Amino acid sequence: MDITKVIIPVAGLGTRFLPVTKSIPKAMIPIFDTPSIHYAVKEAMIAGMKEVIIVMSRGQEAIIEYFNNSLKSDRNSNYNQKMDEISYINNNVSLNIVYQDNPRGLGDAILQCKDIINGEPFGVILPDDLILGNNSIISEMSKVYTQKKSSVIAIKKVPSILLPNLGVVDAKRIESKVYEILNMVEKPKIEDAPSDLAIIGRYILHYEIFETLEKTNLGINGEIQLTDAIDSLIKDIGVLGYQFPEVHFDVGTPLGLLKASIHQSMKNEEFIDDIKSFFKF
Ligand code: UTP
Repeated sequence: MDITKVIIPVAGLGTRFLPVTKSIPKAMIPIFDTPSIHYAVKEAMIAGMKEVIIVMSRGQEAIIEYFNNSLKSDRNSNYNQKMDEISYINNNVSLNIVYQDNPRGLGDAILQCKDIINGEPFGVILPDDLILGNNSIISEMSKVYTQKKSSVIAIKKVPSILLPNLGVVDAKRIESKVYEILNMVEKPKIEDAPSDLAIIGRYILHYEIFETLEKTNLGINGEIQLTDAIDSLIKDIGVLGYQFPEVHFDVGTPLGLLKASIHQSMKNEEFIDDIKSFFKF
């Protein structure tokens, strides 16, 4: 079965970006000139997803406004390639909003989509994980799902210094980019990490994950954690890992967002000399 639905959860508190997230959704903070929600929805569209489900909290309606086709003033309408892209997105995917009334964890955010997913396998894109490159990771992962009929999580080799902040897997390679996940450990000490392969926020999941989430006890921070439910899937029916080589930034932290912004700004011919001289390269 082809994957046509993708969930983009953005209803978290975004405490690492306080105080700005008191009034602005984290997914609307620009990476140079484009918010992470734009990248996430565009990635889903490029992967051929037909239905994008954004899980948000009350007060994050700036996201809905962002994907509105019209501009408030015609004065701006002569220039804006990003506006064209928004129209293109609107013509190619259907955007649905699901509210999570309390931020009870990523697992709970996914659970709110049970009815709309309606029995199908589906993708999850976390906008905090910005992946840049020519290949659409979620579309490559969908192909692995269709071939192997197994849930797939994205994994990436990371420098060991980053392992204590991430979920890390013990995994056996079965094809060049595909691994069987044997175990996963949340935020291990460097010396306890089972590998240097970290879980990054892209998932293709069986519909059965909803049943598992419903049975999952509250985990870290008193929240329903998606990783706990995936851990159960690994033990019960198995989960595959898709290792991707593309550039990745954790834009869920101010430092990661700054690095990604510099990276993106340097792609722009108009600014590159100015930026280089600013950094005295
Ligand atoms: P994080 O665990 O990074 O939390 O969520 P956060 O709230 O975004 O940020 P910090 O840690 O407080 O700084 C991972 C993803 O899951 C979503 C978030 O919006 C983010 O995209 N999420 C998290 C929800 O949608 N609902 C939740 O209850 C928790």
